[in-house]
Amino acid sequence: MKPRILVVDDEPAIRDTMRMILEYEGYDVLLAGSGQEGLTVAERETPDLVFLDIKMPGLDGLEVLSRLRGTNEALPVVIVSAHGSTTTALEAGRLGAFRFIEKPLSKDYVLDAVREGVELGSLRRENRTLRTALETKQQMVGESGALKQIMEQVRRAAPTNATVLILGESGVGKELIARAIHKASLRAKERFVQVNCAAIPEELIESELFGHERGAFTGATEKQTGKFEQADRGTIFLDEVGDMSAKTQAKVLRVLQEGEVERLGSARTIKVDVRVIAATNKDLEEEIAEGRFREDLYFRLSVIPISVPPLRERLEDIPGLVQYFTAQFSRENNRRPAKFSPGAIDALRRARWRGNIRELRNVVERLLIMSDREVIEGEDVQQVVRPDTRPAAGASEAAGVASGSGARPTTLREFKEWSERAFLVDKLREFGWNISKTADVIDTPRSNLYKKLEQYNIKPEGDG
Ligand SMILES: Nc1ncnc2c1ncn2[C@@H]1O[C@H](COP(=O)(O)OP(=O)(O)OP(=O)(O)O)[C@@H](O)[C@H]1O
Ligand SMILES: [Mg+2]
Repeated sequence: MKPRILVVDDEPAIRDTMRMILEYEGYDVLLAGSGQEGLTVAERETPDLVFLDIKMPGLDGLEVLSRLRGTNEALPVVIVSAHGSTTTALEAGRLGAFRFIEKPLSKDYVLDAVREGVELGSLRRENRTLRTALETKQQMVGESGALKQIMEQVRRAAPTNATVLILGESGVGKELIARAIHKASLRAKERFVQVNCAAIPEELIESELFGHERGAFTGATEKQTGKFEQADRGTIFLDEVGDMSAKTQAKVLRVLQEGEVERLGSARTIKVDVRVIAATNKDLEEEIAEGRFREDLYFRLSVIPISVPPLRERLEDIPGLVQYFTAQFSRENNRRPAKFSPGAIDALRRARWRGNIRELRNVVERLLIMSDREVIEGEDVQQVVRPDTRPAAGASEAAGVASGSGARPTTLREFKEWSERAFLVDKLREFGWNISKTADVIDTPRSNLYKKLEQYNIKPEGDG
Protein backbone atom coordinates (compact mmCIF):
# COMPACT_ATOMS: atom_id res chain seq x y z
CA MET A 1 0.00 0.00 0.00
CA LYS A 2 1.16 3.54 -0.79
CA PRO A 3 2.20 5.54 2.28
CA ARG A 4 -0.56 7.97 3.22
CA ILE A 5 0.30 11.48 4.17
CA LEU A 6 -1.92 13.97 5.92
CA VAL A 7 -1.33 17.69 5.39
CA VAL A 8 -2.92 19.99 7.97
CA ASP A 9 -2.75 23.65 6.93
CA ASP A 10 -5.24 26.51 6.89
CA GLU A 11 -3.80 28.05 3.69
CA PRO A 12 -5.35 26.48 0.56
CA ALA A 13 -2.29 27.40 -1.55
CA ILE A 14 0.00 25.40 0.73
CA ARG A 15 -2.33 22.40 0.69
CA ASP A 16 -2.37 22.51 -3.13
CA THR A 17 1.39 22.71 -3.41
CA MET A 18 1.90 19.86 -0.99
CA ARG A 19 -0.63 17.75 -2.80
CA MET A 20 1.14 18.30 -6.10
CA ILE A 21 4.56 17.48 -4.74
CA LEU A 22 3.45 14.36 -2.91
CA GLU A 23 1.06 12.91 -5.45
CA TYR A 24 3.69 13.32 -8.13
CA GLU A 25 5.93 11.07 -6.06
CA GLY A 26 3.19 8.47 -5.74
CA TYR A 27 2.02 9.09 -2.19
CA ASP A 28 -1.60 9.08 -1.09
CA VAL A 29 -2.50 12.55 0.15
CA LEU A 30 -5.12 13.54 2.71
CA LEU A 31 -5.90 17.21 3.37
CA ALA A 32 -7.31 19.08 6.34
CA GLY A 33 -7.95 22.84 6.58
CA SER A 34 -7.94 23.15 10.37
CA GLY A 35 -6.51 21.58 13.48
CA GLN A 36 -9.82 20.05 14.44
CA GLU A 37 -10.34 18.59 10.99
CA GLY A 38 -6.78 17.26 11.10
CA LEU A 39 -7.46 15.31 14.27
CA THR A 40 -10.64 13.85 12.82
CA VAL A 41 -8.96 12.76 9.60
CA ALA A 42 -5.96 11.36 11.47
CA GLU A 43 -8.20 9.21 13.59
CA ARG A 44 -10.33 7.99 10.71
CA GLU A 45 -7.63 7.43 8.11
CA THR A 46 -4.60 6.40 10.18
CA PRO A 47 -2.03 8.14 7.98
CA ASP A 48 1.65 7.15 7.95
CA LEU A 49 2.89 10.69 8.37
CA VAL A 50 1.50 14.16 9.17
CA PHE A 51 2.63 17.62 8.01
CA LEU A 52 1.31 20.07 10.53
CA ASP A 53 1.13 23.87 10.29
CA ILE A 54 1.74 25.76 13.54
CA LYS A 55 -0.23 28.97 13.12
CA MET A 56 -3.86 28.12 12.52
CA PRO A 57 -7.06 29.66 13.81
CA GLY A 58 -8.76 27.50 16.43
CA LEU A 59 -6.58 24.63 17.52
CA ASP A 60 -2.99 25.54 16.78
CA GLY A 61 -0.36 23.08 15.56
CA LEU A 62 1.29 22.45 18.92
CA GLU A 63 -2.02 21.58 20.48
CA VAL A 64 -2.87 19.22 17.61
CA LEU A 65 0.59 17.68 17.93
CA SER A 66 0.20 16.90 21.58
CA ARG A 67 -3.24 15.36 21.04
CA LEU A 68 -2.01 13.27 18.14
CA ARG A 69 0.81 11.94 20.24
CA GLY A 70 -1.64 11.10 22.96
CA THR A 71 -3.65 8.80 20.72
CA ASN A 72 -0.89 7.38 18.54
CA GLU A 73 2.64 7.83 19.74
CA ALA A 74 4.13 5.95 16.81
CA LEU A 75 2.81 8.46 14.25
CA PRO A 76 5.63 10.66 12.88
CA VAL A 77 4.82 14.38 12.65
CA VAL A 78 6.63 17.13 10.71
CA ILE A 79 6.00 20.68 11.89
CA VAL A 80 5.69 23.30 9.15
CA SER A 81 5.85 27.00 9.92
CA ALA A 82 6.45 30.35 8.35
CA HIS A 83 7.04 31.79 11.76
CA GLY A 84 9.84 29.49 12.72
CA SER A 85 11.32 30.69 15.91
CA THR A 86 13.69 28.52 17.87
CA THR A 87 11.33 28.36 20.82
CA THR A 88 8.51 26.92 18.72
CA ALA A 89 10.96 24.50 17.16
CA LEU A 90 12.14 23.40 20.58
CA GLU A 91 8.61 23.09 21.86
CA ALA A 92 7.64 20.99 18.84
CA GLY A 93 10.64 18.76 19.39
CA ARG A 94 9.73 18.34 23.02
CA LEU A 95 6.22 17.33 22.02
CA GLY A 96 7.65 14.68 19.77
CA ALA A 97 7.73 16.14 16.25
CA PHE A 98 10.68 14.59 14.49
CA ARG A 99 11.29 17.45 12.00
CA PHE A 100 10.69 21.16 11.69
CA ILE A 101 10.59 22.76 8.23
CA GLU A 102 10.03 26.38 7.21
CA LYS A 103 7.90 28.07 4.62
CA PRO A 104 8.30 28.78 1.81
CA LEU A 105 8.45 25.04 1.29
CA SER A 106 11.31 23.50 -0.63
CA LYS A 107 10.33 20.38 -2.53
CA ASP A 108 13.55 18.62 -1.57
CA TYR A 109 13.07 19.26 2.12
CA VAL A 110 9.51 18.01 1.96
CA LEU A 111 10.41 14.78 0.20
CA ASP A 112 13.36 14.21 2.43
CA ALA A 113 11.14 14.53 5.50
CA VAL A 114 8.62 12.14 3.96
CA ARG A 115 11.19 9.44 3.33
CA GLU A 116 12.61 9.71 6.80
CA GLY A 117 9.19 9.92 8.45
CA VAL A 118 7.74 6.89 6.70
CA GLU A 119 10.78 4.85 7.65
CA LEU A 120 10.64 6.05 11.22
CA GLY A 121 6.96 5.22 11.51
CA SER A 122 7.44 1.69 10.33
CA LEU A 123 10.32 1.18 12.74
CA ARG A 124 8.24 2.47 15.61
CA ARG A 125 5.35 0.21 14.70
CA GLU A 126 7.63 -2.78 14.37
CA ASN A 127 9.03 -2.11 17.80
CA ARG A 128 5.64 -1.86 19.28
CA THR A 129 4.54 -5.12 17.67
CA LEU A 130 7.63 -6.89 18.90
CA ARG A 131 7.08 -5.57 22.37
CA THR A 132 3.48 -6.71 22.60
CA ALA A 133 4.37 -10.01 20.98
CA LEU A 134 7.03 -10.55 23.63
CA GLU A 135 4.66 -9.67 26.40
CA THR A 136 1.76 -11.77 25.18
CA LYS A 137 4.01 -14.72 24.38
CA GLN A 138 4.54 -15.09 28.09
CA GLN A 139 0.90 -15.38 28.92
CA MET A 140 -0.24 -18.59 30.55
CA VAL A 141 -3.48 -19.76 29.00
CA GLY A 142 -5.79 -22.49 30.22
CA GLU A 143 -9.01 -23.29 32.00
CA SER A 144 -8.20 -26.59 33.61
CA GLY A 145 -8.13 -27.06 37.34
CA ALA A 146 -4.53 -28.21 37.03
CA LEU A 147 -3.45 -25.00 35.35
CA LYS A 148 -5.35 -22.81 37.77
CA GLN A 149 -3.63 -24.58 40.60
CA ILE A 150 -0.27 -23.94 38.97
CA MET A 151 -1.07 -20.26 38.59
CA GLU A 152 -1.93 -20.14 42.25
CA GLN A 153 1.37 -21.82 43.13
CA VAL A 154 3.19 -19.29 40.96
CA ARG A 155 1.44 -16.45 42.72
CA ARG A 156 2.39 -17.76 46.14
CA ALA A 157 5.95 -18.73 45.31
CA ALA A 158 6.83 -15.59 43.38
CA PRO A 159 7.34 -13.04 46.18
CA THR A 160 9.50 -15.41 48.23
CA ASN A 161 13.10 -16.35 47.64
CA ALA A 162 12.38 -20.04 47.87
CA THR A 163 13.88 -22.38 45.33
CA VAL A 164 11.32 -23.78 42.92
CA LEU A 165 11.59 -27.07 41.09
CA ILE A 166 9.35 -27.42 38.04
CA LEU A 167 8.68 -30.95 36.86
CA GLY A 168 6.97 -32.05 33.70
CA GLU A 169 7.27 -33.58 30.27
CA SER A 170 8.76 -31.80 27.32
CA GLY A 171 6.71 -28.86 26.06
CA VAL A 172 4.31 -28.57 28.98
CA GLY A 173 5.34 -24.99 29.77
CA LYS A 174 8.10 -25.28 32.36
CA GLU A 175 10.07 -22.35 31.03
CA LEU A 176 6.96 -20.23 30.75
CA ILE A 177 6.21 -20.91 34.41
CA ALA A 178 9.76 -20.09 35.47
CA ARG A 179 9.53 -16.74 33.68
CA ALA A 180 6.13 -16.06 35.19
CA ILE A 181 7.56 -16.57 38.67
CA HIS A 182 10.40 -14.19 37.98
CA LYS A 183 8.07 -11.59 36.49
CA ALA A 184 5.79 -11.70 39.51
CA SER A 185 8.69 -11.58 41.97
CA LEU A 186 10.38 -8.65 43.70
CA ARG A 187 13.32 -9.35 41.40
CA ALA A 188 11.32 -8.70 38.24
CA LYS A 189 13.46 -5.70 37.25
CA GLU A 190 16.66 -7.69 37.63
CA ARG A 191 17.95 -10.34 35.29
CA PHE A 192 16.49 -13.71 34.48
CA VAL A 193 19.47 -15.82 33.47
CA GLN A 194 18.75 -19.11 31.80
CA VAL A 195 21.16 -22.03 31.66
CA ASN A 196 20.33 -25.16 29.74
CA CYS A 197 22.34 -27.75 31.63
CA ALA A 198 21.78 -30.40 28.96
CA ALA A 199 23.04 -28.27 26.09
CA ILE A 200 26.40 -27.33 27.55
CA PRO A 201 29.22 -29.87 27.26
CA GLU A 202 30.25 -31.26 30.60
CA GLU A 203 33.75 -29.76 30.48
CA LEU A 204 32.31 -26.29 30.04
CA ILE A 205 29.38 -26.23 32.37
CA GLU A 206 31.30 -25.32 35.48
CA SER A 207 32.92 -22.36 33.86
CA GLU A 208 29.53 -21.34 32.43
CA LEU A 209 27.93 -21.45 35.84
CA PHE A 210 30.72 -20.18 38.03
CA GLY A 211 33.04 -18.35 35.64
CA HIS A 212 36.79 -18.64 35.37
CA GLU A 213 39.90 -16.54 35.67
CA ARG A 214 42.18 -15.99 32.74
CA GLY A 215 44.48 -18.98 32.34
CA ALA A 216 42.42 -21.19 34.63
CA PHE A 217 42.63 -23.96 32.06
CA THR A 218 43.94 -24.45 28.55
CA GLY A 219 41.89 -22.26 26.28
CA ALA A 220 40.79 -19.85 29.00
CA THR A 221 42.32 -16.85 27.30
CA GLU A 222 39.97 -14.34 28.89
CA LYS A 223 38.29 -14.30 32.22
CA GLN A 224 34.61 -15.12 32.20
CA THR A 225 31.83 -14.17 34.55
CA GLY A 226 29.64 -17.10 35.48
CA LYS A 227 25.88 -17.24 35.16
CA PHE A 228 25.41 -17.17 38.93
CA GLU A 229 27.31 -13.91 39.12
CA GLN A 230 25.38 -12.52 36.17
CA ALA A 231 22.14 -13.36 37.91
CA ASP A 232 23.15 -11.57 41.10
CA ARG A 233 20.05 -9.93 42.64
CA GLY A 234 17.94 -11.67 39.98
CA THR A 235 16.88 -15.19 39.12
CA ILE A 236 18.81 -18.07 37.62
CA PHE A 237 16.86 -20.72 35.73
CA LEU A 238 18.64 -24.08 35.72
CA ASP A 239 16.85 -25.83 32.90
CA GLU A 240 17.24 -29.60 32.44
CA VAL A 241 18.82 -29.74 35.87
CA GLY A 242 18.59 -33.53 35.79
CA ASP A 243 21.40 -33.58 33.25
CA MET A 244 24.15 -32.13 35.42
CA SER A 245 27.24 -34.20 36.15
CA ALA A 246 27.98 -35.30 39.71
CA LYS A 247 30.76 -32.75 40.01
CA THR A 248 28.58 -29.87 38.89
CA GLN A 249 25.80 -31.00 41.20
CA ALA A 250 28.19 -30.78 44.14
CA LYS A 251 29.15 -27.24 43.22
CA VAL A 252 25.60 -26.10 42.68
CA LEU A 253 24.68 -27.53 46.04
CA ARG A 254 27.41 -25.42 47.58
CA VAL A 255 26.07 -22.24 46.03
CA LEU A 256 22.65 -23.03 47.38
CA GLN A 257 24.01 -23.69 50.84
CA GLU A 258 26.58 -20.92 51.14
CA GLY A 259 25.27 -18.32 48.73
CA GLU A 260 28.70 -17.91 47.21
CA VAL A 261 30.58 -18.94 44.11
CA GLU A 262 34.19 -19.46 43.25
CA ARG A 263 35.47 -18.86 39.76
CA LEU A 264 37.61 -21.64 38.32
CA GLY A 265 41.24 -20.79 38.90
CA SER A 266 40.51 -18.44 41.76
CA ALA A 267 40.59 -19.00 45.49
CA ARG A 268 38.39 -16.00 46.15
CA THR A 269 34.73 -16.56 46.89
CA ILE A 270 32.10 -14.16 45.64
CA LYS A 271 28.84 -13.61 47.47
CA VAL A 272 25.80 -13.85 45.25
CA ASP A 273 22.15 -13.19 45.95
CA VAL A 274 20.37 -15.40 43.46
CA ARG A 275 16.95 -16.96 43.38
CA VAL A 276 17.11 -20.41 41.84
CA ILE A 277 14.40 -21.97 39.71
CA ALA A 278 15.15 -25.39 38.28
CA ALA A 279 13.30 -27.56 35.81
CA THR A 280 13.57 -31.05 34.41
CA ASN A 281 11.59 -33.57 32.43
CA LYS A 282 13.34 -36.44 34.16
CA ASP A 283 11.95 -38.34 37.06
CA LEU A 284 14.40 -37.13 39.69
CA GLU A 285 13.36 -39.68 42.28
CA GLU A 286 14.25 -42.37 39.82
CA GLU A 287 17.52 -40.63 39.01
CA ILE A 288 18.29 -40.59 42.72
CA ALA A 289 17.44 -44.26 43.07
CA GLU A 290 19.87 -45.01 40.28
CA GLY A 291 22.58 -42.90 41.82
CA ARG A 292 22.61 -40.29 39.08
CA PHE A 293 21.24 -37.39 41.10
CA ARG A 294 22.18 -36.24 44.58
CA GLU A 295 19.41 -36.53 47.07
CA ASP A 296 20.62 -33.57 49.13
CA LEU A 297 20.57 -31.36 46.06
CA TYR A 298 17.08 -32.57 45.24
CA PHE A 299 15.86 -31.51 48.67
CA ARG A 300 17.51 -28.13 48.33
CA LEU A 301 15.95 -27.55 44.93
CA SER A 302 12.46 -28.77 45.66
CA VAL A 303 11.50 -26.39 48.42
CA ILE A 304 8.52 -25.56 46.26
CA PRO A 305 7.88 -28.31 43.72
CA ILE A 306 5.52 -27.57 40.87
CA SER A 307 4.35 -30.51 38.78
CA VAL A 308 2.99 -29.64 35.38
CA PRO A 309 0.69 -32.32 34.00
CA PRO A 310 0.92 -33.27 30.31
CA LEU A 311 -1.66 -31.89 27.92
CA ARG A 312 -3.44 -35.23 27.61
CA GLU A 313 -4.42 -34.90 31.26
CA ARG A 314 -5.93 -31.45 30.80
CA LEU A 315 -7.75 -31.54 27.49
CA GLU A 316 -10.01 -28.71 28.70
CA ASP A 317 -7.10 -26.37 28.00
CA ILE A 318 -7.13 -27.12 24.27
CA PRO A 319 -9.89 -24.74 23.08
CA GLY A 320 -8.40 -21.76 24.89
CA LEU A 321 -4.90 -22.53 23.71
CA VAL A 322 -6.02 -22.94 20.10
CA GLN A 323 -7.75 -19.60 20.18
CA TYR A 324 -4.75 -17.97 21.80
CA PHE A 325 -2.26 -19.39 19.28
CA THR A 326 -4.55 -18.47 16.38
CA ALA A 327 -4.82 -14.88 17.56
CA GLN A 328 -1.07 -14.69 18.02
CA PHE A 329 -0.40 -16.15 14.60
CA SER A 330 -2.74 -13.79 12.81
CA ARG A 331 -1.30 -10.80 14.60
CA GLU A 332 2.24 -11.78 13.69
CA ASN A 333 1.37 -12.51 10.08
CA ASN A 334 -1.18 -9.80 9.50
CA ARG A 335 -3.95 -12.23 8.72
CA ARG A 336 -7.58 -12.37 9.58
CA PRO A 337 -7.93 -14.85 12.45
CA ALA A 338 -9.32 -18.18 11.27
CA LYS A 339 -11.78 -20.19 13.32
CA PHE A 340 -11.65 -23.81 14.38
CA SER A 341 -14.97 -25.63 14.01
CA PRO A 342 -16.25 -27.71 16.95
CA GLY A 343 -15.32 -30.78 14.89
CA ALA A 344 -11.77 -29.50 14.54
CA ILE A 345 -11.45 -28.87 18.26
CA ASP A 346 -12.81 -32.32 18.85
CA ALA A 347 -10.22 -33.87 16.56
CA LEU A 348 -7.51 -31.95 18.40
CA ARG A 349 -8.79 -33.27 21.71
CA ARG A 350 -8.58 -36.79 20.39
CA ALA A 351 -5.02 -36.48 19.13
CA ARG A 352 -2.01 -37.81 20.91
CA TRP A 353 0.11 -34.97 22.26
CA ARG A 354 3.55 -36.31 22.94
CA GLY A 355 5.11 -32.89 22.50
CA ASN A 356 2.41 -31.32 24.63
CA ILE A 357 1.67 -27.62 24.26
CA ARG A 358 4.63 -26.96 22.03
CA GLU A 359 3.34 -29.59 19.62
CA LEU A 360 -0.18 -28.20 19.78
CA ARG A 361 1.14 -24.79 18.89
CA ASN A 362 3.06 -26.19 15.92
CA VAL A 363 0.01 -28.06 14.69
CA VAL A 364 -2.16 -24.96 14.93
CA GLU A 365 0.40 -22.93 12.99
CA ARG A 366 0.73 -25.61 10.35
CA LEU A 367 -3.04 -25.72 9.90
CA LEU A 368 -3.22 -21.95 9.57
CA ILE A 369 -0.41 -21.87 7.04
CA MET A 370 -1.79 -24.72 4.94
CA SER A 371 -5.36 -23.51 4.82
CA ASP A 372 -6.75 -20.34 3.33
CA ARG A 373 -10.21 -21.03 4.59
CA GLU A 374 -11.81 -19.06 7.35
CA VAL A 375 -12.91 -22.14 9.22
CA ILE A 376 -10.65 -25.10 9.93
CA GLU A 377 -12.64 -28.33 9.95
CA GLY A 378 -12.19 -31.70 11.58
CA GLU A 379 -10.89 -33.25 8.34
CA ASP A 380 -8.15 -30.63 8.09
CA VAL A 381 -7.01 -31.55 11.57
CA GLN A 382 -7.12 -35.26 10.85
CA GLN A 383 -4.72 -34.78 7.97
CA VAL A 384 -2.16 -33.24 10.26
CA VAL A 385 -2.47 -35.14 13.51
CA ARG A 386 -2.77 -38.83 14.11
CA PRO A 387 -5.57 -39.87 16.42
CA ASP A 388 -4.68 -41.44 19.71
CA THR A 389 -4.78 -45.11 18.72
CA ARG A 390 -1.56 -45.75 20.61
CA PRO A 391 -0.01 -48.61 18.64
CA ALA A 392 2.12 -49.86 21.49
CA ALA A 393 2.94 -46.25 22.22
CA GLY A 394 2.55 -46.96 25.90
CA ALA A 395 5.18 -49.61 25.52
CA SER A 396 7.74 -47.30 24.00
CA GLU A 397 7.14 -44.86 26.80
CA ALA A 398 7.61 -47.44 29.50
CA ALA A 399 10.83 -48.50 27.90
CA GLY A 400 12.55 -45.24 28.68
CA VAL A 401 13.20 -42.08 26.81
CA ALA A 402 11.81 -42.34 23.32
CA SER A 403 14.29 -41.74 20.55
CA GLY A 404 14.81 -38.05 19.86
CA SER A 405 12.75 -35.42 21.56
CA GLY A 406 9.79 -37.63 22.33
CA ALA A 407 7.69 -35.61 19.92
CA ARG A 408 5.54 -37.39 17.42
CA PRO A 409 7.35 -38.13 14.15
CA THR A 410 6.88 -35.62 11.38
CA THR A 411 8.90 -37.13 8.53
CA LEU A 412 8.41 -40.52 6.94
CA ARG A 413 11.76 -41.65 8.20
CA GLU A 414 10.99 -40.60 11.74
CA PHE A 415 7.71 -42.41 11.52
CA LYS A 416 9.36 -45.61 10.30
CA GLU A 417 11.86 -45.53 13.12
CA TRP A 418 9.21 -44.66 15.63
CA SER A 419 6.99 -47.55 14.62
CA GLU A 420 9.92 -49.94 14.42
CA ARG A 421 10.87 -49.02 17.95
CA ALA A 422 7.34 -49.44 19.23
CA PHE A 423 7.08 -52.81 17.53
CA LEU A 424 10.33 -54.06 19.04
CA VAL A 425 9.40 -52.94 22.55
CA ASP A 426 6.05 -54.59 22.18
CA LYS A 427 7.55 -57.89 21.11
CA LEU A 428 10.32 -57.83 23.67
CA ARG A 429 7.72 -57.32 26.33
CA GLU A 430 5.66 -60.16 25.02
CA PHE A 431 8.62 -62.51 25.32
CA GLY A 432 9.78 -61.28 28.69
CA TRP A 433 12.75 -59.37 27.25
CA ASN A 434 14.32 -62.61 26.09
CA ILE A 435 16.49 -61.44 23.20
CA SER A 436 17.07 -64.80 21.51
CA LYS A 437 13.45 -65.74 21.62
CA THR A 438 12.25 -62.36 20.38
CA ALA A 439 14.81 -62.32 17.58
CA ASP A 440 13.64 -65.74 16.61
CA VAL A 441 9.98 -64.87 16.54
CA ILE A 442 10.38 -61.66 14.57
CA ASP A 443 12.78 -63.45 12.29
CA THR A 444 15.86 -61.29 12.53
CA PRO A 445 19.43 -62.19 13.54
CA ARG A 446 20.16 -61.63 17.20
CA SER A 447 23.01 -59.31 16.34
CA ASN A 448 20.59 -57.11 14.43
CA LEU A 449 18.22 -56.97 17.36
CA TYR A 450 21.06 -55.92 19.64
CA LYS A 451 22.01 -53.22 17.18
CA LYS A 452 18.44 -51.93 17.15
CA LEU A 453 18.27 -51.88 20.95
CA GLU A 454 21.29 -49.68 21.00
CA GLN A 455 20.14 -47.49 18.14
CA TYR A 456 16.80 -46.76 19.79
CA ASN A 457 18.13 -46.74 23.31
CA ILE A 458 15.75 -49.48 24.37
CA LYS A 459 16.37 -50.80 27.85
CA PRO A 460 14.59 -53.68 29.54
CA GLU A 461 11.92 -52.54 31.96
CA GLY A 462 12.76 -52.75 35.62
CA ASP A 463 16.45 -52.89 34.75
CA GLY A 464 18.97 -51.36 37.22
N1 LIG B 1 -0.33 -22.48 29.44
C1 LIG B 1 0.22 -22.03 28.31
N2 LIG B 1 -0.34 -21.01 27.64
C2 LIG B 1 0.22 -20.54 26.52
N3 LIG B 1 1.33 -21.02 25.96
C3 LIG B 1 1.94 -22.04 26.58
C4 LIG B 1 1.43 -22.59 27.79
N4 LIG B 1 2.26 -23.58 28.18
C5 LIG B 1 3.24 -23.65 27.26
N5 LIG B 1 3.06 -22.72 26.29
C6 LIG B 1 3.91 -22.53 25.10
O1 LIG B 1 4.35 -23.80 24.67
C7 LIG B 1 5.71 -23.78 24.29
C8 LIG B 1 6.52 -24.74 25.15
O2 LIG B 1 6.60 -24.26 26.49
P1 LIG B 1 7.96 -24.28 27.33
O3 LIG B 1 9.13 -23.97 26.47
O4 LIG B 1 7.77 -23.44 28.52
O5 LIG B 1 7.97 -25.83 27.70
P2 LIG B 1 9.04 -26.67 28.52
O6 LIG B 1 8.27 -27.43 29.50
O7 LIG B 1 10.12 -25.77 29.02
O8 LIG B 1 9.58 -27.65 27.40
P3 LIG B 1 11.00 -28.45 27.33
O9 LIG B 1 10.98 -29.47 28.41
O10 LIG B 1 10.95 -29.06 25.96
O11 LIG B 1 12.06 -27.43 27.50
C9 LIG B 1 6.15 -22.34 24.42
O12 LIG B 1 5.98 -21.72 23.18
C10 LIG B 1 5.19 -21.77 25.44
O13 LIG B 1 5.06 -20.39 25.28
MG1 LIG C 1 12.14 -25.75 28.49
